[in-house]
Amino acid sequence: MRVIITGVAGFIGSHLAQELLAEGEVEIIGIDNLSSGLESNLELLRELDTENKFIFHNIDIRDLDAMKKAVGDLKVDRVFHLAALVSVQESIDNPLKSGSINIGGTQNVLELARYAGAKRIMFSSSAAVYGDEPTLPKNEESIIRPISPYGMEKYVGEQYMSMYSQMYGLEAVVFRYFNVYGERQNPTSDYSGVISIFNDRLAKCEGANIYGDGKQYRDFVYVKDVVKANILAMKLDSVEYEVFCVGTGKTTTITQLYEALQKRYNCDKAPTYLEARKGDILESVCDNSKIVNKLGLKEFTPFAEGIYKV
Ligand SMILES: NC(=O)c1ccc[n+]([C@@H]2O[C@H](COP(=O)([O-])OP(=O)(O)OC[C@H]3O[C@@H](n4cnc5c(N)ncnc54)[C@H](O)[C@@H]3O)[C@@H](O)[C@H]2O)c1
Repeated sequence: MRVIITGVAGFIGSHLAQELLAEGEVEIIGIDNLSSGLESNLELLRELDTENKFIFHNIDIRDLDAMKKAVGDLKVDRVFHLAALVSVQESIDNPLKSGSINIGGTQNVLELARYAGAKRIMFSSSAAVYGDEPTLPKNEESIIRPISPYGMEKYVGEQYMSMYSQMYGLEAVVFRYFNVYGERQNPTSDYSGVISIFNDRLAKCEGANIYGDGKQYRDFVYVKDVVKANILAMKLDSVEYEVFCVGTGKTTTITQLYEALQKRYNCDKAPTYLEARKGDILESVCDNSKIVNKLGLKEFTPFAEGIYKV
């Protein structure tokens, strides 16, 4: 099998490529423009690639011609589309740029999938599509009400996936990730989230800011579980169009997260509680019954275990 991974130099994309290389049965064409991805992730993949199964192309997904040229006449079986402008704040500051990447780039990747004869695409969407609609837990049928260009663009991407599956018979699996965490998350990227920021600070036993009372909670899902979901979807016999929420169904408050890292680093530095930030989504949790029952992702890494791996 041959696959394309866009966003391969990023946090989740590099974990996905790492796992596929370990399985040893898949050739990978990686695409990334290294805007938030890291050269060090590519170096790691090159080290693991003992059988010459990984090729990398430094290309922007806004450039369809360059992507087609890179793929050439190779037949591709599956496409994993993870490349995106991932900063919600940057999408608010520069919606045309994020739209050109997250919508225009996604259209290009769909066209690339068609060009290369792929049977299926796996698209990394986000729980951001739900916005601040308060009903919890979220499932695949929950109301969609994005409150940022990023959330809207991910939803438009999902609709394109659905339309391509109907119009062109390209099978499509959409994953709405909740808060993904794990090794190699870039603490300087503002989408990297609270875990890598706290981890970075508490490893040096410096305190960190908690906005609001710390009781707000998230559904933190370990990166290797997200990778498993992608690989299970890759291996399905057939599918038309499916959406899956990807979370553990369990909640962790921001204060609990802080305390877990205090314990890990044996650091008693207290957090500084600041006024809640406007627009922060306070609570988020996933009803994961569909991904458990329909995709067969039965086990999730417990937070208390995963937090030792970041
Ligand atoms: N990390 C999370 O908690 C989370 C949650 C929901 C959804 N997602 C989605 O998962 C995917 C992967 O996210 P991540 O956390 O690994 O982020 P990341 O920033 O580490 O990875 C994104 C990758 O896309 C690349 N990229 C960006 N713009 C590009 C362009 N124009 N052309 C080519 N490559 C480009 C970046 O260089 C980077 O390597 C993204 O689509 C993101 O929206 C992530």
